[in-house]
Amino acid sequence: MDARVSTLDFAQWSTRQLAQVEQALSDWVPADAPAGLGEAMRYAVLDGGKRLRPLLVMAAAEAVQGRVEAALRAACAVELIHAYSLVHDDLPCMDNDVLRRGKPTVHVQFGEAPALLAGDALQALAFEILTPEGDAVPPAIQARLCRLLAQAAGASGMAGGQAIDLASVGKPLTEPELRAMHRLKTGALLEGSVRMGAACADAVDPAALRALNDYGAALGLAFQVVDDILDVTADSAALGKTAGKDAAADKPTYVSLLGLDASQMLAEALCMRAHGALDVSGLADVGRLRALADMVVKRTH
Ligand code: IPE
Ligand code: IPE
Ligand code: MG
Ligand code: MG
Ligand code: MG
Repeated sequence: MDARVSTLDFAQWSTRQLAQVEQALSDWVPADAPAGLGEAMRYAVLDGGKRLRPLLVMAAAEAVQGRVEAALRAACAVELIHAYSLVHDDLPCMDNDVLRRGKPTVHVQFGEAPALLAGDALQALAFEILTPEGDAVPPAIQARLCRLLAQAAGASGMAGGQAIDLASVGKPLTEPELRAMHRLKTGALLEGSVRMGAACADAVDPAALRALNDYGAALGLAFQVVDDILDVTADSAALGKTAGKDAAADKPTYVSLLGLDASQMLAEALCMRAHGALDVSGLADVGRLRALADMVVKRTH
C-alpha cells in the first residue's frame, strides 16, 4: 500500500477493524463473573469509546506484517487496560466524574467498590488474553506483549502518570514537568499500543522499530494535549464526559500553561513529528498510522 491511504480506504479499514475488536471484546469480557462483576466489566468496556488504541495496534501490526491473532489479542488487551484506567480515573478519590462515554460512570451505576473491582478484573483479563494456550501466539511474542503492556500500564507508565496528576492539583507545572506527566499518564499506553503492534511480528528492522516508537511517543503526547484542549473547547454532549473539569479541579494542563492557540500549534507540531518518524521508518505500509495521527489532532471528541 502507498504511504497515504484515501479517506475512504481508511474509513473502510477502521470499520472492519472496529467490528472485529468489538466482537472479540464482547466474547472475552465475561458476563457471568460473580455478584454482578461481569455486568460492571461489560458496562465499562462495551458500547463506547473511540478504540484508538486498538486501531494503533492493528495499524502498527500491519505495517510490520505482524501476526493477526497476536494483534487482535494485543488490541483488546490494551483497550481493557485503558477501560480500567478510565473506571479508576473517574472514581471520587481521583477525578470524581459522573459521565463517561455518554453514560453514567461505572461507580455511579454500580457503586464504588464494584467499580474498583471491575477495574482490577479488567486489568487481569488483559494479561490473560495475551497468554492463550496452544500455538495461536508463539510464547516469545506473548512474553513481549505482556512486558510492553505491563510497562505501559504500571509505575513507569499510566499509573505513575496518574500519581503525578493527583499530586499536581493546584500546582503550576513547568512545561517539562507537564510533558513528563502527560507522557506517562496517557502517552505510555498509546506508545505502548504501537510498540505492541510492532511486537506481533517475529522480527522488525531496528531502525523501523525506533521510528515507530518515535511515532508513538509524539502521537501519545499530542493526544493528551488535544484532550486538554477539548476539555475547554468542547461540550459534555460531544465529549461524552464532563467538559470543563480540568479548570474546575485546578489541574495543570497544556491550556492552562500555554493557552489554547499555542496548545493547538503544539498538537499540530507533534502530529508532524509523528508523520516525520513514519517517513524515515523505511516501512511501506504506514498510511493508516499516518491517518491515525491526523485523527488524533483533528478529533472533536
Ligand atoms: C480518554 O481517552 C482518557 C485519556 C487518556 C485522555 P479517550 O479519549 O481515548 O477515551 P475513549 O476510549 O474514546 O472513551
Ligand atoms: C486520564 O486523563 C488519563 C488516564 C490515565 C485515564 P484525564 O483525567 O484528563 O482523562 P479524562 O479527561 O477524564 O478522560
Ligand atoms: Mg484524570
Ligand atoms: Mg479524568
Ligand atoms: Mg482530560
